[in-house]
Order: sequence, then C-alpha cells, then structure tokens
Amino acid sequence: MTGRFMTVEGIEGVGKTTQVARLSQALSARGIAHVVTREPGGTPLAEKIRDLVLSPREEALPPMAELLLMFAARAVHLANHIEPNLRAGRWVLCDRFTDATYAYQGGGRGMSPEDIGRLETLVQGARRPDLTLLLDVPVAVGLERARLRDVGKTRDRFERERADFFERVRAGYLERARAEPERMAVIDAAQPADQVAAHITRILESKSWIS
Ligand code: TMP
Repeated sequence: MTGRFMTVEGIEGVGKTTQVARLSQALSARGIAHVVTREPGGTPLAEKIRDLVLSPREEALPPMAELLLMFAARAVHLANHIEPNLRAGRWVLCDRFTDATYAYQGGGRGMSPEDIGRLETLVQGARRPDLTLLLDVPVAVGLERARLRDVGKTRDRFERERADFFERVRAGYLERARAEPERMAVIDAAQPADQVAAHITRILESKSWIS
C-alpha cells in the first residue's frame, strides 16, 4: 500500500514546525513509517532553490519567477523524495505544499489561480495531499509569535512583508479550505500547542488512519 501524503499549512507564526514534530512523534509511537519534509526544499537541490527564493537581494524577483521557482523546487522534491517514499509505503508529512502557492503567490502576490492550477497539473499530475491541516490564527497573533521567535534573526523575503500581505495569504488559505472541506481541516491554532496536537490526533482518528 502506498503511504499517506499529509501537508501542514498556515501563515508565519502559527506553530507549524511544533505541530509537525508532535505529529511525527504520534506516528512513531504507533509504529507508522514516515518522513518529515518541507517546501520549498526537502532535498539538497530543492533546498538550493529555497535559498534562492527566500534570500533577500538587491535585484527584484518578479512574482512569475517566484512562482516558477516554487514549482521547480516542488518538481525536484516530488521526483526525488515524496513519490519514492509514498511508493515505499511511508507516509510523507510535509511542512507546506501547493496550498502555500495558492495562498502566497496567488493571494499574497496576486498571481492568477488559473495559472497556478495549470502549473499544479503540469508538475504534479494527479498527486494531491490526502489531508491538509490548516493551522489558522489571526494575522496579528501569528506575526507577533513570529517576531518573538525570530528576535536577532535576519528576516527572509516573505517575513519582510507587511500585515496586509499576510491578510491576503490567510484569506487565500481559508478560501481553499472552504472549497475543499474534505481534504482540508481548519484548526484553531491560537489554542495552546497541546490542544492543537490533540485536535490533529482526533482528525486522524476520525479517518481511522490511527487509533
Ligand atoms: P517556512 O518559513 O514556513 O518554511 O516557509 C518558507 C516561506 O516560503 C514561507 O514564507 C511561505 C513561502 N512559500 C511560498 O510563498 N509559496 C510556496 O509554494 C511555499 C511552499 C512556501
């Protein structure tokens, strides 16, 4: 049997990294073979593309180039990491995937969802996540958490964006969740991390993926 493909999404500061780690522990405790990965990135080559797209530099990165780089990294990640692991029966737990492209490049940068959809089909064929957990918090809460977490760190190209950009990103995510409620579960991530983790466990139990 092929593995299950799960993705975790949300704006900056929603606690994705914590919840991905908690979920990985929960799967390990049940003996479920899985890999944890992220986008953009997830393989040495795709991580180089990540550096290119996240590093602030003087020359502008046009939104179209940003969009294509996200999908270039995804094509590498799918071929070299995601698909082989799913075929081997391992679950793939991915910190961000194509919903982030619709939310950031679509909602945030204003690229057309039709163009994103065409690239999605071109790069992924029929591959879509089996389940997406959207960790949702109001933008002010997420940005404040990210600010406290990142004190003293250099902010990447996205972290330098203003609140109105993240409002559009959040709206983009919520719109996708409304359109695909079967695949995407919206989780109130303003709650303490333990409660968020418990909610995620209940979702997997309700699908009979874990017990
Ligand atoms: P991270 O910091 O959560 O690892 O994500 C890196 C940044 O990349 C984050 O600000 C969101 C952005 N991103 C996109 O803009 N489009 C995408 O398709 C993906 C996967 C990430």
